[in-house]
Amino acid sequence: MRRPLVAGNWKMNGSLESVRSLLDGIKRGIGDVKSAELAVCPPCVFIPEVQKLLSGSDIAWGGQDLSTESSGAFTGEISASMLNDFACKYVIVGHSERRSYHAESDQQVASKYAVARAAGLIPILCIGETLEEREAGTTNEIVARQLDAVIDLEGIDALANGVIAYEPVWAIGTGMTATPEQAQEVHAFIRGRVAAKSGSVAQGLRILYGGSMKPDNARELIGKPDIDGGLIGGASLKAEDFLGICTAAD
Ligand code: PGA
Repeated sequence: MRRPLVAGNWKMNGSLESVRSLLDGIKRGIGDVKSAELAVCPPCVFIPEVQKLLSGSDIAWGGQDLSTESSGAFTGEISASMLNDFACKYVIVGHSERRSYHAESDQQVASKYAVARAAGLIPILCIGETLEEREAGTTNEIVARQLDAVIDLEGIDALANGVIAYEPVWAIGTGMTATPEQAQEVHAFIRGRVAAKSGSVAQGLRILYGGSMKPDNARELIGKPDIDGGLIGGASLKAEDFLGICTAAD
């Protein structure tokens, strides 16, 4: 059995004050969530505060990105060891916003994945197609290419106990959620591709769905056999909505 994971991707949102009240709300409501694992990925400057507020709770935290370098003259970057200093468990890599606004290539994302793992962090690898790619019928080809970049660099064992987030770019922040059937189809494709190399790695791999997941569509999505939770953007900024999704995942 794969334990469902619901991870909040706060992106570049919030203030010290809003972080405190959001986490307060989540902690107060978490009692109803029994089996799903919860995590939040705040902007990096808030990680120390999140660590302070979540230490000793069942909620994990992580970064939204990391550098492939370990230290040095890389202005603006955050290293894996810095995330470790603040007890991060997870780190998102290859989010479509990083791929498009920061031109991150599949190879760079694969390197970030490898660096995160080597540091003992659990990378959440984001993959997914744009609307044009879906309409051109190339969805599987795109996600296969993004997935294979990691497998080619590190071998299939890189995905052992791994986390992938399938996030169709056209569904992110648009309110246009993939239907549970559309999402399941791609999730099954991803798992099948991994299974072709290792059945046991495929079995243990958590594949989250991301893209306008909300409390009212989470149950149906996460109810699909290959959907093991969600990576949540907008709805993770409101305690009630985030908890609604966590309860659905439960
Ligand atoms: P969304 O974002 O839930 O706001 O669509 C998801 C994501 O980008 O991870």
